[in-house]
Amino acid sequence: MKSSAKRILAVSNRVNGRLLCRSRFNNVHRCGLLQQHRFLASSVGVSVPEGFKDTVKNTILDHALREDSRLWQSTGDDPLDDLDLEFETTRYWPSLPPGVEAIDPIAISSKEIVKLVESIRDDMLNTEHPVLQKAATYFFQSAADGGKKVRPMLVLLLSRALSDHITTTHQPVTSSSLLPTALEWQRPELPDLNRRLAEVTEIFHTASLLHDDVLDDADQRRNLPALHTQFGAKIAVLAGDFLLAKACVTLAKMGDLRTVEAMSTVLEHLVLGEVMQIRGPKADGQKSRLRVYLKKNFYKTASLMALSCKSVAFLGEYPDELIDVAYRFGKHAGMAFQLVDDALDYEGTAQHLGKPSMADLRSGLATAPVLFAAQEHTELIPMIDRKFKGSGDVERAIEIVFRSDGIERTKELAILHAERAMDALLELNPSPSRDALIQLAYRVVARTR
Ligand code: FPP
Ligand code: MG
Repeated sequence: MKSSAKRILAVSNRVNGRLLCRSRFNNVHRCGLLQQHRFLASSVGVSVPEGFKDTVKNTILDHALREDSRLWQSTGDDPLDDLDLEFETTRYWPSLPPGVEAIDPIAISSKEIVKLVESIRDDMLNTEHPVLQKAATYFFQSAADGGKKVRPMLVLLLSRALSDHITTTHQPVTSSSLLPTALEWQRPELPDLNRRLAEVTEIFHTASLLHDDVLDDADQRRNLPALHTQFGAKIAVLAGDFLLAKACVTLAKMGDLRTVEAMSTVLEHLVLGEVMQIRGPKADGQKSRLRVYLKKNFYKTASLMALSCKSVAFLGEYPDELIDVAYRFGKHAGMAFQLVDDALDYEGTAQHLGKPSMADLRSGLATAPVLFAAQEHTELIPMIDRKFKGSGDVERAIEIVFRSDGIERTKELAILHAERAMDALLELNPSPSRDALIQLAYRVVARTR
């Protein structure tokens, strides 16, 4: 190392040491540390070599991660509190719970979903800039664009199931709308609010995928080239921001503060989940690795489903018990969904999935199949720790996962979550929408893409 660089390192290590001695190495200190390094570098009048910048950056991040380990410890309000299902056994699978009718969730919501995509594309995403318009509507060309539309389907069906539970008169869903008419004590615009919420969930999800494909450098999504491969990373990120901005305006106009708070929290969770994935803590022990993974799944995937379902209950001004039913349903459906996604990443082909397969392992991610496999095949542990970067790690890990029961155990855990989601709904009076939702939870785990 050049002597000027050594000098900066020595001085900044002293500053670093002092800062780290403080009891809490909080955000302010982290920012301060970066400023200090910049200031010290400029004050001795040298340009800082790239390698040295990386050393400083990694040192700061490593310290931050160690300090942030409290993020992974249980707190009073831990989303993992009821997620420790590993040793439970399934009760209904492969049948539906007793007394539940097999109603096709896609068939009863298809008209609403077509309208929803049209409304997003034609009304919600208008802008004067043609490139932004094209980029933002790229994934909203048709309802059959390869996206599953699970999130809006949850919102629409749940709005009807909660309403039917309260009235206990269950109108068969035959008309053009699945949405409930508002009851006397509900806001008259309730059907519109539910439709808007369904649109917001799909827009949030799509925005997160636009950003995700840039971060993951993925080239395919929903059987189309990823947006950033067509418009470049800058426009893809900005199109994602634009989608979020439009969705937030819609949320604000809906005029329900609890919904605005819940859905804004989803955005925080999406970012948190993604950062956890990029810079996870060094988990020690198998149990801890699985917890960290599950917590990340909650933030990355289940939170959007949980909090948008909760928002359905907020908008309908339902009592606390129903708010809880809605939240538990969405959370467990979301956990099941992500676990199946992670199993399919191993099992599916790129063409069938509409996105690359085996992407997780190749990008260094240890998801449930490999984490379960490692409980039996401990040689996987060092590979997980070095993010499968060793020579031949990826091929060897894939081979071990397929020899183990890792994929099967991942699916079993997904089924347990799907059954918890069904249990929440079984607290509602029977109705076609409730049963369609139960069927949807079932399909989430039986899906192949
Ligand atoms: C897909 O994960 C990605 C997500 C579920 C969330 C991504 C979130 C961000 C990029 C944070 C930014 C957030 C906002 C609100 C814009 P995956 O890579 O495991 O799945 P994939 O195989 O479908 O790509
Ligand atoms: Mg991705």
